Amino acid sequence: MPEKPGSSRQRPLKTLERVFSKHGIGSRTDARSWIGAGRVRVNGKIVKDADHWVDLERDRITLDGKPLQSAAKLYILLYKPKGYLTSYGDPEGRLTVYDLVTDAGAWLSPVGRLDLDTSGLLIMTNDTAFAERVMNPEHKVAKTYRVKASPPVREEQMEQLRRGVELDDGPARPAEVRRVRDSAGHSFLDLTITEGRNRQVRRMLEAVGSKVSKLVRTAIGPVRIDELPIGKWRALTPEEIVALGGRASGNGSILNTSESRRKPRPAYLSGKNPGRSRS
Ligand code: URA
Repeated sequence: MPEKPGSSRQRPLKTLERVFSKHGIGSRTDARSWIGAGRVRVNGKIVKDADHWVDLERDRITLDGKPLQSAAKLYILLYKPKGYLTSYGDPEGRLTVYDLVTDAGAWLSPVGRLDLDTSGLLIMTNDTAFAERVMNPEHKVAKTYRVKASPPVREEQMEQLRRGVELDDGPARPAEVRRVRDSAGHSFLDLTITEGRNRQVRRMLEAVGSKVSKLVRTAIGPVRIDELPIGKWRALTPEEIVALGGRASGNGSILNTSESRRKPRPAYLSGKNPGRSRS
């Protein structure tokens, strides 16, 4: 990549490919293909180098002759099923969360990740500042998981989780843990953490000598799974956006939802999952 140009004061420099995701217009992969196809101009000149530095205050960038404008800010809540990757595209052609939000009307990025085998709430947005805020562990946004673990988790192991267990990438912060019930060799727990490290909940349970067999994220801060059907999405409400640190004007124009009108029991309680079928 060409070296970032120096400057006497901090300027809003970005590589050309990042400008598109920053504006919520498309992914970096989309941007690379538009740039490579000669559809992007900087100050009137076609630039085919995706790593070209641009100054967002001074440079005029166009796609197909039209100046870039930030897309309206959209924020949605998806109930990700197990078996879907939290990524854009997959070399092996597996299903991804993007297969579930084709009707959202904008290019959105996931706020954090859920493992392939984890289901539950995933916020997606084109507001990069909002996403960074929610993901930043310093802001301590609580994420709650319903955990099925085996062998059953004893009271002293729950205490360990509450004190904070040691993980290979450093100590986990103390978690809130509540026993929901025990049954046939398993414990069901509600576990709330304020970090989002890779496979963190699974690793925390392993650190106390148990193993997660099912994991569902049921809440992110004040946003709860409630009656959202599995595999469907809805717009975040202005109150939810504000409670997570966004602006009340967000989602001004999104008013559709993939949510059906029926009001089923939350799927994480019924154990239903659409598996790999597309909704
Ligand atoms: N913790 C995990 O182990 N997996 C997830 O997907 C999320 C949190």
